Order: sequence, then structure tokens, then C-alpha cells
Amino acid sequence: MPMKWQLHNVDAIPWLIDQSSDDYDALVTDPPYSSGGLHAGARTSDSANAKYINDPGKYPEFTGENRDQFSHMQWSTLWLTHAHRVLRAGAPVMVFTDWRQLPVMTSALQAAGFTWRGIVVWDKTEGVRPQKGRFRQQSEFVIWGSKGKWHSSDGPVLPGVFRHSVTAGGPKMHTTGKPVPLMSDLIKACPSGTILDPFAGSGSTGLAAIRSGRFFVGCEREEAYFNIACERLSNTA
Ligand SMILES: C[S@@+](CC[C@H](N)C(=O)[O-])C[C@H]1O[C@@H](n2cnc3c(N)ncnc32)[C@H](O)[C@@H]1O
Repeated sequence: MPMKWQLHNVDAIPWLIDQSSDDYDALVTDPPYSSGGLHAGARTSDSANAKYINDPGKYPEFTGENRDQFSHMQWSTLWLTHAHRVLRAGAPVMVFTDWRQLPVMTSALQAAGFTWRGIVVWDKTEGVRPQKGRFRQQSEFVIWGSKGKWHSSDGPVLPGVFRHSVTAGGPKMHTTGKPVPLMSDLIKACPSGTILDPFAGSGSTGLAAIRSGRFFVGCEREEAYFNIACERLSNTA
């Protein structure tokens, strides 16, 4: 494996259980949202792509998207609890979610032992989800906090809202891929060292970590996305 990054084609939870305690400097991740469908039929569909995009054949499928809200909170508490153990004291945690799962994800973060400190808004610009006579679904959220005391009381004041189109910095490589410039903005709040992303998808967190001079360790269960992420990370390192 190259020195600047490691990516594992595994389920994140057993992998986290195998890791040593207090080893990682930040958790920046975009787990499955288990959201999207307004009705049970859509939410429990086998196709994550069909829920989130108009062209379901465009990206490889991924799983872990059809828990109901109660189960999503329990599962999130589980993986966040294991992630909490492997992080160093003071490590920042940043977890993406959407408007539907925002309440349960803030609870899961705290149930796992993190101190919840706020929400960063990702403004996806006017390119997304217009709704006639109603508000555009234009934002997603990053719940942020830390393992105990925040790692630093120094450094620049960072914005609480970041505005990037979904294709800022290059084409999307995953159904729910995040723009690398957004990930670079978030990582500015992390200490130097190793950033952990247990749900790496196409590797956007990793690209931003490497570009900022940090190390990256991630997991991605779906082989198709694991391969896409490895290629992107290899071309960046
Ligand atoms: C929201 S996507 C991440 C997208 C990523 N931020 C990007 O920009 O490409 C979540 C990813 O987590 C993966 N995943 C779901 N459950 C997992 C698990 N238990 N362990 C590891 N990966 C998992 C899915 O395959 C999916 O690619």
C-alpha cells in the first residue's frame, strides 16, 4: 500500500473493531443516509441510485441505504461508537446527513460519546432539486463535534456555510459523491495526521486529505467504488 493512503474493501464495523484505540486524528465521513424516499416503497427499494438520481444506470449501485429511521439511528450509534474508540482525544468528527436524518444523526453522534458542536451547511447551489411553489432542496448538512475537548483554540475562523455545486472540482464519481473542494474546506478544521473515512465511496475525502498533506485511511464495502477510489487516490498521491 502507498504511504499516503490506505483503502480497505471491507465492511467498516468489523474493521473498526479490529483497530487499535486512539490511532486516528480526525473522522470525516459521508455514510449512507438511508433517506431519499418519502414513502416506505421508495426507501426500501434495492436501488440506492433510483432514489437519488434521475439516471439510475449512471453509477454503480451501493447498499446500506434502506434502514428505517430508528434502525438507521441504532446502526449509526454502533459504528460511531467504534469510531470514537479509535480516534485520539480531541479529534474532530464530521458526518454528512440530509434534512430527514439530521435529528437522529445528532443523537447518534452524542450517544456514541462525541461532543456535538454544530452543523455546517453545504449549499449545493441553484443547480439542484427545484420544487414549484416550495423551497428548493438545496442543502445537506455536516454534523460536527469532537472526542472531548476540540483539538485547538487557534487558527483561522472558518465559514459555517460552504457553497459548491455537486460537480465542483470535477465530475461526480458516485451517486452521492461529494465535491473535493467541499471536502478540502472541511479538512481545514482538522489537525495534521491521519483522516479516517469508513464510508469512502469514490474517495473524495481521501483526495482532499492527501492534497492537504495529511494521510488517509478508509473503508469501502462495494468493490466497484473501492476500485474507483483506488484509481483516484493513486492518481493524486
Ligand atoms: C454516501 S456514500 C460516500 C460517497 C463519498 N463521500 C464520495 O464522495 O464518493 C457511502 C458509501 O458507503 C459505502 N458503505 C455502505 N455501508 C458500508 C459499510 N458497512 N462499510 C463500508 N462501506 C459501506 C457505500 O457502498 C457507499 O459507497
